[in-house]
Amino acid sequence: MNRKITDTVTWVGKIDWELKTFHGEEYSTDQGTSYNSYLIEDEKTALIDTVWMPFSKEFVKNLKNTIDLNEIDYIIANHGEVDHSGALPELMKEIPDTPIYCTKKAIDSLKGQYHEDWNFVEVKTGDTLDLGEGQLIFVEMPMLHWPDNMLEYYTKDKILFSNDAFGQHYASEELFNDLVDQNELFTEATKYYANILTPFSGMVTRKINEILAFDLELNMICPAHGVLWREAPAQIVKQYLEWADNYQEDQITIIYDTMWKNTKLMGEAIAEGLKIKSPNTRLKLINTSLVDKNDVITEVFKSRAILVGSSTINNGILNSIAGVLEMIEGLKFKNKSYAAFGSYGWSGESVQLLEKHMDRSGFEKVMDGIKVKWTPTEENSKKLRAFGVEFIEKLDAMKDGTNA
Ligand code: FEO
Repeated sequence: MNRKITDTVTWVGKIDWELKTFHGEEYSTDQGTSYNSYLIEDEKTALIDTVWMPFSKEFVKNLKNTIDLNEIDYIIANHGEVDHSGALPELMKEIPDTPIYCTKKAIDSLKGQYHEDWNFVEVKTGDTLDLGEGQLIFVEMPMLHWPDNMLEYYTKDKILFSNDAFGQHYASEELFNDLVDQNELFTEATKYYANILTPFSGMVTRKINEILAFDLELNMICPAHGVLWREAPAQIVKQYLEWADNYQEDQITIIYDTMWKNTKLMGEAIAEGLKIKSPNTRLKLINTSLVDKNDVITEVFKSRAILVGSSTINNGILNSIAGVLEMIEGLKFKNKSYAAFGSYGWSGESVQLLEKHMDRSGFEKVMDGIKVKWTPTEENSKKLRAFGVEFIEKLDAMKDGTNA
């Protein structure tokens, strides 16, 4: 169902309550998502983005209920990824000559995916498109999160159409940020940033500052996923600047996988030491084989340090922790520290392998890892508690620039 946002702007997207994974299996969408598309009916009419391909017929049908498609003067394709461009083939069957405004890289990505030579018009940062009472001002957003991204500001209603930036995979029948559960909203916005935008944090800061330099009044931010930031829209801009600035909270997370609970017991004993030394630090223990991998990443994102554990298997590490470490490496976290631990029966390579992974991922090693052969004894547990205490001492010393 299409919904008016202002006198001129109508939301014409799709709420996808059933979506449970995104980017193949890479991103869990427990709360579903939405594909937000917007119709601006000024003196000229512009359509901003479309929806994912499975909903393309429904999208075009709904759009026809709102407007004669021939009245659409311009299509704005902020990003070539299929969740926003997927309905273009269906739409372009109806209005094949309508110009599609997008970046040069988006021309490449759209042609590469759909093999169509539509009427593309390349736009660059600072270009404008006159709609009558208002103008669209375009800003290229390369690598946020594809090379082809851009966003635009609509001067009449003072709306920033931000595409993926400031979005959340969050299905809601309510369209606006002030009408939804704030905890759910920020949980999804944080997960989105942590799992998708973390590697591009430097660019996030530069681009937000570039947009702020335009000194634009902002009534609303309309992203391409999730709810629209109507109430205090600057809050999510400020939050992005914080997230992009080597974000961490006073949290330590112990992530591990375990075969017969011995590595788990090690993690719990280390946790006791951490808690003794730093009782106010938020401490979480996560068995990566039991917890959604994207939620694990969100906890790593919030942590100032992690402890990472695995039993040794076949001279290697366990599968679920290996998958999480692969994600951590790709996300290029900064300003985070770690130590490793693990149990073994005979060869015992896991700790060294975990350390190699973490070093490669740019985490700073707080101290050499700790191994236990077979099941921890009471003596081992004492050592593990001491390991936890020493970890905090060394971590704090690293922060203060002193030697523990
Ligand atoms: Fe929502 Fe990068 O697509």
